[in-house]
Amino acid sequence: MALLDKIEAIKAQMASLQADSEEALEALRIKYLSKKGELTALFAEFKDVPAEQKREMGQRLNELKTLVTERITTLREGVADKQKQSNQVDITRPAYPQYVGTRHPLSVVRRQIIDIFARLGFTLAEGPEVEDDWHVFSALNFAADHPARDMQDTFFIEQNPTDVTRNIVLRSHTSSVQVRTMERAQPPIRIICPGRVFRNEAITARAHCFFHQIEGLYIDKNVSFADLKQVLLHFARELYGPETQIRLRPSYFPFTEPSAEMDVSCMLCGGKGCSFCKHTGWVEILGCGMVDPNVLEACGIDSSVYSGYAFGLGIERITNLKYMVKDLRMFSENDVRFLDEFVSAH
Ligand code: DAH
Repeated sequence: MALLDKIEAIKAQMASLQADSEEALEALRIKYLSKKGELTALFAEFKDVPAEQKREMGQRLNELKTLVTERITTLREGVADKQKQSNQVDITRPAYPQYVGTRHPLSVVRRQIIDIFARLGFTLAEGPEVEDDWHVFSALNFAADHPARDMQDTFFIEQNPTDVTRNIVLRSHTSSVQVRTMERAQPPIRIICPGRVFRNEAITARAHCFFHQIEGLYIDKNVSFADLKQVLLHFARELYGPETQIRLRPSYFPFTEPSAEMDVSCMLCGGKGCSFCKHTGWVEILGCGMVDPNVLEACGIDSSVYSGYAFGLGIERITNLKYMVKDLRMFSENDVRFLDEFVSAH
């Protein structure tokens, strides 16, 4: 075939040239443009072209080379575009998981406790963490020289050297909210008061300088110890299951008379005795009692007409018993590995 025909033949191939991958492009480049390619062969033939045709053939050959090069470049752009598009959105790909935070275990348990009492008609009450002596001690029947003031290691904001009733403290219990509520409202009063409390204790696995309590208070006509016991039994069974038993042991608090501490049957062994309950079958969960008439009077409530009960519990303690948390410090360290364990507890 004459050189001109060969040029025309290759030219004719260009329009239908296709490539859908890098490999196909490379194959085309080798076929036409490499050292052993078809165009290189035509350029080799060029030296045999008669002198009078050299000018025209040279031109045609150069045009062909430009045509082939441009065609391959166009195909290369097409392949790159296709790749870019397929990289952009893969709609079959699963979505990135979205991690939501979890509720803190103490919040989970606080909510559970509040819910139980809310169903019994208790409403929420709150008070300040920085309190005066009156609301934390004096109104709650702690006399100025009463040794029970030493029951709790109080943090002082202002400590008066001669008159303890003028002290300002971080509240050491949520019983202060009882006082604030009774000062404001007349019975019937039925409140539940969650909050943070502070005590001057070294931080260990078993004690912390702050923790959380929930205080309960019910004041009305003819409220009896039997009412208290029934409400607490209901509470224990809602929290730990319908088989739960309770027992009340006589105790002492300045603000209640009589006073008691409540145990529930061990949630691990069901009361048979195990290492968790120190083989007694019981674990202590709260303090309670009938509100001392002195407290009612201090808060402006007529103790000859009204009576009431109160109870107080530690949220950390209840949470430990539910989730077997060994070290109190974990509640305030905010280690996500610990917090993540409560994802399903909501
Ligand atoms: N305030 C007590 C404490 O922090 C707990 C308590 C005991 C509260 C008996 C009460 C109660 O309302 O009646 O140890």
